[in-house]
Amino acid sequence: MPAVAADTVENAIVGRRSVRDFSSRPVPMVLVERILLAARRAPSSTNMQPWKVDVVTKAARERLVAAILDTESRAPGMAQAEFAYYPQQWRSPYAERRRQVGLELYRRLGIKKEDQARARQQLLRNYEFFGAPVGLILSIDRDLEAASWLDIGMFMQNVMIMAAGGGPASCPQLAFAKHHAVIRHGLGIPADRIILCGMALGYEQIDSPLHAMVTERAELDVFVRFHHQ
Ligand SMILES: Cc1cc2nc3c(=O)[nH]c(=O)nc-3n(C[C@H](O)[C@H](O)[C@H](O)COP(=O)(O)O)c2cc1C
Repeated sequence: MPAVAADTVENAIVGRRSVRDFSSRPVPMVLVERILLAARRAPSSTNMQPWKVDVVTKAARERLVAAILDTESRAPGMAQAEFAYYPQQWRSPYAERRRQVGLELYRRLGIKKEDQARARQQLLRNYEFFGAPVGLILSIDRDLEAASWLDIGMFMQNVMIMAAGGGPASCPQLAFAKHHAVIRHGLGIPADRIILCGMALGYEQIDSPLHAMVTERAELDVFVRFHHQ
């Protein structure tokens, strides 16, 4: 692949990571708009462009964070997403991969397996967008089907790749789907939409123990079959 452009894209894709510790350095809104303008070029089935995004910053972000944390303190861990986003039964190889990320996260943060209080504290950091000054909430019209869910995944990846290309960092956050009621109320998202996912956008805290955490990937022969004849 000799093309320079391809190298640049490859670097952005390979260099993207989920960042879970952001500095308070603000992200200029022109940059957020630029990222979203590029991301909307994502392909979508019959060009439906099903993505809907609420951007929260400053006081709006603070209010949303406070409302979710308040709900979590009154009914810890009780909020449920409107859709099942994980399998009911974890099995190999997914269970191991999931465990590996969790273990590495906890190892870096010095959280012992039995320290449930700190583990919960870290979980709750999700709802502060891990300190990122910009939060995105992605939602989808309730009557749309699987194709549109795929499309939104592509849109989200575009946002993250744009961010990885020298701009701010990101973390996609399904955790927000659990708090659809609070989010819907706080942001005035209509009932005919499903709240799918959140995303943190900001600049990484470079001196964080989580800095440069790179997750593993399976080799090609694990997930690809080539058929030639
Ligand atoms: C749709 C989606 C939702 C995610 N939700 C969360 C989340 O709620 N909290 C979190 O810390 N990470 C979340 N992640 C990040 C994954 O854990 C991460 O992508 C995975 O471990 C691979 O690491 P990497 O993104 O750094 O390559 C999510 C990722 C995706 C794609």
